[in-house]
Amino acid sequence: MCKYRLGLLGWPLSHSLSPVMQRAALDAYGLTDWIYELIPTPPDELAQAWPSIQSHYFGCNVTIPHKQTIAAWVQSDPLANAVGAVNTIVFQENDLPLGSNTDILGLMGDLACHGIDLRQKRVVILGAGGASRAAVYLLVYLGCKIMLINRTLARSKEIQSKYPEAVILGKFEDVEDWQPQAMINCTSVGMWPYIEDCPWPDSLAFPRGVLAYDMIYRPMQTAFLKKAEAAHGTGISGIGMLVHQGAAAFTIWTKKPAPFEIMFKAVQNSLANS
Ligand code: ATR
Repeated sequence: MCKYRLGLLGWPLSHSLSPVMQRAALDAYGLTDWIYELIPTPPDELAQAWPSIQSHYFGCNVTIPHKQTIAAWVQSDPLANAVGAVNTIVFQENDLPLGSNTDILGLMGDLACHGIDLRQKRVVILGAGGASRAAVYLLVYLGCKIMLINRTLARSKEIQSKYPEAVILGKFEDVEDWQPQAMINCTSVGMWPYIEDCPWPDSLAFPRGVLAYDMIYRPMQTAFLKKAEAAHGTGISGIGMLVHQGAAAFTIWTKKPAPFEIMFKAVQNSLANS
């Protein structure tokens, strides 16, 4: 009998290695009465599914495209509230679910592991969804100047209005002249199985020598990272961020230190075998 049911709420989820990663962490502690499963839920079914999810799960992660929607339905902690996006939830009996955002810790932890210091740097952010909000929050804290580019202008405008001193809205054509030191892909473009897709347009040369960070972890070498490396830049996959944010979520649910190396290896092995 599973006492503690966890899951990942999002759509689509076929790429996700969170179940493999969290299973490895739960097994490391012998937590056999815990499970972690996918909860694939299209946007137009989310509201209807939400009451049942609340009653059947102990906690969950939230991913594309629900992080902002769900933030309005839970009691967010101060960090998640400031970001306006939630990726980790603990359900409570007779009270609102508690929402946190571990994406900020995830990105911060992984940048630190790679020895990357983005303080005061000029950074282009692609995307203006929940993951982008976490990245912008962190980069504003680090004193960065940010150029935000997104398909839907209204979403980037909403973020920009929160940080008018630090964030400008841009287009791909503006990037080269702005001379960024780093570029972070927070869109889902290029994620498995659509691995040929790239958030940077084919019609424009990729800026030379930038640090390119892709929040996508499957595939590890995305079309975005390949372009950056071909333009003499450095490419970093989102695998580390996945594990850092997942480790923080594990601790929120279980109150135990996360077995980071075990989680990382589980994801790495799955990627190598897929
Ligand atoms: P998450 O919470 O993981 O960030 P999200 O809120 O759905 O997920 O955000 C996904 C991001 O990827 C958004 O910036 C989205 O652009 P829109 O705001 O225009 O929807 C971006 N995205 C997804 N598919 C895209 C595509 N085919 N082309 C360009 N951007 C895309």
